[in-house]
Amino acid sequence: MTDIVVGNSDKLKPAVEEALKSAPTQHQRLLDWVREVAALTEPETIHWVDGSQEEWDRLTSELVDAGTFVRLNEDEFPNSFAAFSDPEDVARVEERTFICSSTREGAGPTNNWVDPEEMKATLTEKYRGCMRGRTLYVIPFVMGHLGAKDPKFGVELTDSAYVVCSMRIMATIGQDVLRTMEEKDAFFVEALHSVGAPLDEGQDDVAWPCNPDKYIVQFPEDRAIWSFGSGYGGNALLGKKCYALRIASAIAHDEGWLAEHMLILKVTDPQGETHYISAAFPSACGKTNFAMIEPTIEGWKAEMVGDDISWITFDDEGKPRVINPEAGLFGVAPGTGWTTNPNAMRGVAKGNTIFTNVALTDNGGVWWEGMTDEVPEHLIDWKGQDWTPDSGRPAAHPNSRFCTPIEQCDIVAPEYSDPDGVPLSAIVFGGRRKTTVPLVSESFDWNHGVFQGATLSSETTAAAKGQVGVVRRDPMAMLPFIGYNAGDYLQHWVDIAKKYGEENMPKIFYVNWFRRTPDGGFAWPGFGENSRVVKWIVERLQGTAGGKETPVGIVPNVEDLDLTGLDADPKDTEAALAVNVDEWKEELPGIDEWFEKLGDHVPAEVKEQRDALGARLDG
Ligand code: GDP
Ligand code: PGA
Ligand code: MN
Ligand code: MN
Repeated sequence: MTDIVVGNSDKLKPAVEEALKSAPTQHQRLLDWVREVAALTEPETIHWVDGSQEEWDRLTSELVDAGTFVRLNEDEFPNSFAAFSDPEDVARVEERTFICSSTREGAGPTNNWVDPEEMKATLTEKYRGCMRGRTLYVIPFVMGHLGAKDPKFGVELTDSAYVVCSMRIMATIGQDVLRTMEEKDAFFVEALHSVGAPLDEGQDDVAWPCNPDKYIVQFPEDRAIWSFGSGYGGNALLGKKCYALRIASAIAHDEGWLAEHMLILKVTDPQGETHYISAAFPSACGKTNFAMIEPTIEGWKAEMVGDDISWITFDDEGKPRVINPEAGLFGVAPGTGWTTNPNAMRGVAKGNTIFTNVALTDNGGVWWEGMTDEVPEHLIDWKGQDWTPDSGRPAAHPNSRFCTPIEQCDIVAPEYSDPDGVPLSAIVFGGRRKTTVPLVSESFDWNHGVFQGATLSSETTAAAKGQVGVVRRDPMAMLPFIGYNAGDYLQHWVDIAKKYGEENMPKIFYVNWFRRTPDGGFAWPGFGENSRVVKWIVERLQGTAGGKETPVGIVPNVEDLDLTGLDADPKDTEAALAVNVDEWKEELPGIDEWFEKLGDHVPAEVKEQRDALGARLDG
């Protein structure tokens, strides 16, 4: 962090000096950086996070004492805690998220941009003294496997113990990481985080300290992250969205791979043939549920490799391989229940979980809308108020979350822990659309698939602050996560196939679980029944399933889907699959507007796809 106006070393507290002297590392760049940040932020003390169980036990107890955590009933939820955030700190803040590349063009038309020097100057003043009265935690972490050829290291400096505990679930952290980083004298991403709530001498802390003035800032060229003012997962657990998507997408662009907002599903058909599928849906549009799907069709098996992020590389032959760089699930709680997602429920029931903004039951458990069919008669809602079914408001925040280790889910595939990842057969794009977009379609070729991804549209959700239910374009479900110019990002997708060979590319599909019938209900039952769509996708890969060519891609006829035992009105299924030319013609102005917004970086290959779609709709 060489360019900040450094703080005053005279202000280092004795305990800080002591912690720097007895640091468990010789990594000079790390030591210099920690000293510099401490001089600027003026913490009371420094704690070098080792990632041990004892440390977790101590920090979680401290968080209980501080009122940040409620310890849950040990019988039902062992070693688990509920946290309740400030009501204004419940989601990602896209308005306050910045990509500070050296030029505005580098960040492109979809990202907020401020000149990096100016942003550093502004934030340096925000950070000055911001950790007063708090502990500075140093969290060495690695995204992906510590045994990978080129492990992707980071160090998060934070003044939040909630962040430390959550990072222990979501990433591989601690002593071993630090040692390996040291041995390799490896590069690490500097990830600075503060809740931005310094404590004056004698001032009482609040349960969820944060600051109304939030900044989630990526410096893609420096590969650095500065986050200020929020404790919420996507803003504060910097290994996840900030590193594994925004910074990693910039690295991937430079190095010829892909960092994507995609789950990874392993499917095995009745003959024992295995396929791995990555799927990109915007936040709160069904990734975690799809990753943990329990198939409703005979003989098909599904396992999870990842639920949110895919790093896709290409081997010497140009074949794609994918890893999940995370170690935990940070899942949307509402809608996750014993009928919709039993695998998640079983995983969470094993304990070791942090819940945020769910409701508390009278016997020290948790509840959220959709968890059980039966609604409890009394709860303490996420705001700490008494709640009954007549209260007329949700008990859990719509973006309440469970944070749980991936390894404790029964259905995690053993390949999850293979540093070389798994071969990738198919990419699925999807969004939340009430109309127009059919249940599933297969793209004609790679560039058509890139066009489908580039024009992906979805209704906004509670996962980000702002209006919910507004349709917006969300390229590859990466709109809030592309760490550079979105047009260049699309070009990168086009170029990947040129570089590694289109014959090596995964087949691309586009799904919509959320289409509605005229009476407002879902046209497709979703969840486990999505296995029927998975089966069609796999059979398309195998060349055995039928389908019809439509202007938007190859769509199954009703009889091409295995609907055995499906409890749904066949008319609804037909409606879910329908491609309505008039509806699609209405999409075109929105697509044109979108490409106009993206400007002259939109690849010619993608624009050609727009014209080809127009011609097919007219034809
Ligand atoms: P993620 O944020 O993309 O991982 O999305 P989740 O899997 O957590 O799901 C977000 C919300 O969508 C939850 O409330 C789910 O219950 C709901 N959901 C997920 N899959 C489906 C589906 O297939 N059909 C319907 N109707 N809802 C779904
Ligand atoms: P999600 O992850 O995609 O599971 O919602 C969190 C987010 O994207 O903010
Ligand atoms: Mn996500
Ligand atoms: Mn999820």
